[in-house]
Amino acid sequence: MGYNSKSIKTKEVQLNQLAQQVKTLDTSPLYQVRMENNYKPVFGEGNPDATIMFIGEAPGAQEAETGRPFVGRAGKHLDSLLHSIDLQRDDVYITNIVKDRPPDNRNPHVTEIEIYSPFLREQIVIIQPKIIATLGRFAMEFIFKLFQLPLYGKKIGEIHGTALHAFSELGETTIVPLYHPAAVFYNRNLEAVLKRDFEILKKLS
Ligand code: URA
Repeated sequence: MGYNSKSIKTKEVQLNQLAQQVKTLDTSPLYQVRMENNYKPVFGEGNPDATIMFIGEAPGAQEAETGRPFVGRAGKHLDSLLHSIDLQRDDVYITNIVKDRPPDNRNPHVTEIEIYSPFLREQIVIIQPKIIATLGRFAMEFIFKLFQLPLYGKKIGEIHGTALHAFSELGETTIVPLYHPAAVFYNRNLEAVLKRDFEILKKLS
């Protein structure tokens, strides 16, 4: 077994331990929702040594039923965008800020984001992705704050597809804000925009 596979295993072990903590997070108000609906926590999945880490907002119904991120309609679109730049899900790492489904697809509350954010922070520290691609406004604003990028208040329409160098105690990375793959269901014009922005990811990786 080479050095590299050993290092992957170590990351895997760390991620599994973190996933276990999310599984037993009974202090979260969304834990009750999980139990009542027989949902699963959605920790994240993919290559622990991925170059690109995608971060969405929170799981939807299909994600909470399967325990896997981006497997519903938005996820199918994400898959096709990945394929358009010759990547598979296994090549990247996909997760969300919030790891349990907020009821009725509502936006996560600030307190919920606070409860789950240490897990995302730790996932970033373990994986050390070269590129963090945020999916949608929520993830963009969260990651800007986490990396202390002085871009608060910037609209996603102004900075989508821009490569932003970030350096903090979490490590060094390039943040690329992207529209959420579900955004095209409301505005078809965004399909071409997202495709172009994925080409930028390919160039950077
Ligand atoms: N939308 C998200 O932000 N995350 C998912 O996992 C699914 C849909």
